[in-house]
Amino acid sequence: MGHALIFDSGVGGLSVAAEIRKRLPGLRMTYAADDVFRPYGAKTEAQLKARLPRLLWELTETAQPDLVVIACNTASTTALSEIRAAIDVPVIGVVPAIKPAAAASRTKTIAVLGTPGTVKRRYVDDLIHDFAEDCHVILQGSVNLVDIAEKKLAGESVNLAWIKTEIAPLFNGKHGADIDAVVLACTHFPLLRDELKASVTQSVQWIDSGDAIARRVETVLKKLTPKPFEDRPDTALLVGPKTSDARIQTFNNFGFKRVVSLMP
Ligand code: DGL
Repeated sequence: MGHALIFDSGVGGLSVAAEIRKRLPGLRMTYAADDVFRPYGAKTEAQLKARLPRLLWELTETAQPDLVVIACNTASTTALSEIRAAIDVPVIGVVPAIKPAAAASRTKTIAVLGTPGTVKRRYVDDLIHDFAEDCHVILQGSVNLVDIAEKKLAGESVNLAWIKTEIAPLFNGKHGADIDAVVLACTHFPLLRDELKASVTQSVQWIDSGDAIARRVETVLKKLTPKPFEDRPDTALLVGPKTSDARIQTFNNFGFKRVVSLMP
């Protein structure tokens, strides 16, 4: 059926990998996490543009996938065209789910919760202009939620008060009480969906793009002739030092039975 390389700065892309696996259980996947350079949301555009094309080229040479999924909003909204120019297989990026959130909102007040990098990008302004012009859109960036999601998936307990502190500016702000849809514009955030839901009292839809990406992968795969693939378990390549046993277990639980640390 084919082989996809799924890329993120850390465990966030697992939320996308899970949706892809649900839709395409026969697809082989390699996962790559840029642990050593996380959080991407705190990096400048120039830093990401300097790092990502080369890194993705190297990972693609190593994994030999049929296609690449940039399962990271920050990387996709910053350096997608540069990454595409560097490698010769199809590259699918994540698009923040602003269009479905605007369509789902009855109050026409939506929030975009991403990394500080993503919510600043022109790409997001363009999506709002194209698909949410009839909405009041509140942008909120958080680096800490990325870290909290990493902690959760590394087996540490998550304190709801941390989450409440991160999202308080959204719901306590001027139009906060009207928000009825929140775009999870960072792939780490669907991993905290239960905690986010538990942190607000008003009725809110939390909308991510995982399923849309999985559908896009399916469409792109149909047009490809897969390369021959060595028969081995789906593998996670972690760019950085050896990770903890609990985190290895997380990758195993998401179907990546082999976990390899790549020292940069
Ligand atoms: N998961 C990534 C995203 O979707 C970024 C997390 C980070 O800041 O490293 O934006």
